[in-house]
Amino acid sequence: MSEPIDLAALPHDFLWGTATSAYQIEGAVAEDGRSPSIWDTFSHTPGRIDNDDHGDVACDHYHRWPEDIGLMRRLGVNAYRLSVAWPRVMPEGNGPVNAKGLAFYDRLTDALLDAGITPSVTLYHWDLPQVLQDRGGWPERETAERFAAYASVVAERLGDRVKHWATLNEPSCSAWIGHLEGRMAPGLTDLTAAVRASYHLLLGHGLATQAIRVAAPGARIGIVNNLSTVHPATDRPEDVAAARRHDGHVNRWWLDPVHGRGFPADMVETYGVELPEKPGDLDTIAAPLDWLGLNYYFPAYVTDDPEGPAPHVRSVRREDVPRTGMDWEIDAGGIEALLLRLTDEYAARKIYVTENGSAYPDLVTPDGTIDDPERQDYLERHLAACASAARKGAPLAGYFAWSLLDNFEWAYGYTKRFGLVHVDYGTQARTIKGSGHRYADIVRRHRNQGRRAA
Ligand code: IFM
Repeated sequence: MSEPIDLAALPHDFLWGTATSAYQIEGAVAEDGRSPSIWDTFSHTPGRIDNDDHGDVACDHYHRWPEDIGLMRRLGVNAYRLSVAWPRVMPEGNGPVNAKGLAFYDRLTDALLDAGITPSVTLYHWDLPQVLQDRGGWPERETAERFAAYASVVAERLGDRVKHWATLNEPSCSAWIGHLEGRMAPGLTDLTAAVRASYHLLLGHGLATQAIRVAAPGARIGIVNNLSTVHPATDRPEDVAAARRHDGHVNRWWLDPVHGRGFPADMVETYGVELPEKPGDLDTIAAPLDWLGLNYYFPAYVTDDPEGPAPHVRSVRREDVPRTGMDWEIDAGGIEALLLRLTDEYAARKIYVTENGSAYPDLVTPDGTIDDPERQDYLERHLAACASAARKGAPLAGYFAWSLLDNFEWAYGYTKRFGLVHVDYGTQARTIKGSGHRYADIVRRHRNQGRRAA
């Protein structure tokens, strides 16, 4: 084992989970009344996705979910983070509810609870109904309002059983990668659209939080951000200033407003785009939360890039450092630093690591097993860092490994495998990898330790 994990630092009711998202695993994109999302459109646009892959079938989870719950049981996890597909539940984006779509999540919820697995439901993991994109998408205020209406319908239906809710997953990817860099749906490269989208995503988060509280009293609500530690590539003042801007772009822009601090003034100036603010919006965005979700994958090293697009920062690839199959630098210290930052700077009351994991090109041995020591090492190092943060006072209440299954990795299609469980996309056969068995051992050890202490 690479690092001892201080399991005693984690609370006895710790949530040990795995995470997935609807478009990445469900498939069945035209079944039971689901309408297309922006990801159906984007992935079917030639050249957008490696190999022109798409999520039409993905892991066929829409049909194979009982087997997938069986896999979770074998892993011994007590929680599962899933996302609901808005276009399944409200194919027109608003208005008529699709009973069959909602019934799918209803069955899933019941089956998870029967298996002793706590569902943690994310309402938006990037699959905006295409009909809403056609009306302007996130750059328009109407989308935020419709998101709240959709959130209310789902919370009303599942809220008697689902207690853990997240509004948005990684809104920075929706806004910045989807509207500024163009590498994700809807594929725009427009700073004004991106800033407006970021604003309305956060407004939608606030409105949805209020709506869930009404529809599902007792709900525990949070938001999931992907955060990075940010380092200047050199100690040149220009790079130090660039690191501050990058921190504003990926971290503070998403954390400050939900904590009642408004949008960071330095970043408003950097973007130079007028915010579509109306009176009361900032209070809505800062609706009180029960927890924060941290998705952590890699640190950022950046340099000043005055000629580049706002925020005029370029990432620097450091040589001779360990990397995953995504070419992402591995730095487990980053997850500890971010957990402590959320604790100290943002006074987090409860934090879940809602995603963390690594992709590697797995090899299936002739006997059908998958030995993935690098993914196992990544998992152990990051869990050790989480436990260390908890020992230092971070209110860490759970960890969700990304991902339960190999799945559709957005612009990379099926070329990148993050699963603790291998998926053969030809046959849909699932095989627990070595890292999955290791995760099960760790979960079991923590559980047994709790039993001994009780
Ligand atoms: O697969 C994604 C997920 O959808 C959001 N967080 C990062 C993961 C790995 O890239």
